[in-house]
Amino acid sequence: MKALVLAGGAGTRLRPLTHTSAKQLVPIANKPILFYGLEQIRDAGITDIGIIVGETRAEIEAAVGDGTALGIRPTYIAQDAPLGLAHALLTAADFLGDDDFVMFLGDNLVEGGITEAVATFTADRPDAQLLLKRVPDPERFGVAELSATGDIVRLVEKPRDPASDLALVGIYLFTPAILDAARRIEPSARGELEITDAIQRLVDDGARVRATLLEGWWLDTGKKDELLDANRIVLASVQRRVEGDLDDESEVVGDVVVEAGAELVRSTVRGPAVIGADCRIVDSFIGPFTSIGARTRIEGSEVDFSVILEDCVVRGVSRMEGSLLGRNVELSRTRRRPAAHRFMLGDHSQVEIEEGR
Ligand code: DAU
Repeated sequence: MKALVLAGGAGTRLRPLTHTSAKQLVPIANKPILFYGLEQIRDAGITDIGIIVGETRAEIEAAVGDGTALGIRPTYIAQDAPLGLAHALLTAADFLGDDDFVMFLGDNLVEGGITEAVATFTADRPDAQLLLKRVPDPERFGVAELSATGDIVRLVEKPRDPASDLALVGIYLFTPAILDAARRIEPSARGELEITDAIQRLVDDGARVRATLLEGWWLDTGKKDELLDANRIVLASVQRRVEGDLDDESEVVGDVVVEAGAELVRSTVRGPAVIGADCRIVDSFIGPFTSIGARTRIEGSEVDFSVILEDCVVRGVSRMEGSLLGRNVELSRTRRRPAAHRFMLGDHSQVEIEEGR
């Protein structure tokens, strides 16, 4: 069995994080979204992974490399233009050959992995197996309509008037039959070859298309900018691992990851939280649901429910919460006169200053 991971699409400005234009590389709990999917595929026993790349090919390749660190064997497959998920699939036809495969959208993040789904699929070998999730806003997704017996009747991409609240999660298990179906569809109203339409083709052909319901959480991170929330959800299942150094006056409470090379001096970290490699936390408190990127320095500060990326400096900030700092951001309290706030903020920045200060 192989895997096909879709990490193409148009590069967009990912406000407020502008260091990457590949949405699949936005970090959640200090790890690019894409890596969670690649690890879950590997954990299901699949290492032969085709990765669809587009405009942001260089960034994706730089992050995943030859796959050694992730324990996978990636094959990069260039898609000329983002003409749809079924187009991406057809682009990978040579790579896929006659093998069964899991297709995984690189901006999807699900709880619990895909091992069970792969096992069910391999045991029964239907023509296709889909993962569905009940959502409050089905019109933003592919939507499945099931019969009373649970069979798939119809699949519609982003319907204005959804027939159910069952959204198609971006993880699909396929036999090569999907390739033939994808060759027989036309572009949709948004000009894309939709995987949803290709699966509908299979259903119309009378093929066996199964669906299972995802009980755990699902983050379709490409959709929203709710990074803090995604970070909170992922951190909630982090396991304690302390590899960095703590001095006698430091304390790490609960599920906290302190990466190697990080140093805590007279500081407390209350989990769930992740402290990246080579960070230095001095005279500070780091509260729950916080991710601190590698090499960031926090001194004399309190940080809570926040995401701070790599190489930042936060100094003398008595209480910071619900905040997102991109890379190389510096935030410090100063005695300089005149007493004033001094900013250098990039486009689309947002700053809230406490009243009375
Ligand atoms: O996330 C689940 C949804 O994903 C499903 O419910 C929908 O049925 C399915 O069509 C898809 O919808 P999106 O509109 O969210 O797909 P998006 O264009 O965001 O692309 C998903 C991923 O695939 C993203 O990581 C970019 C990549 N991609 C996309 C296109 C259109 C490619 O690699 N090549 C492409 O041509």
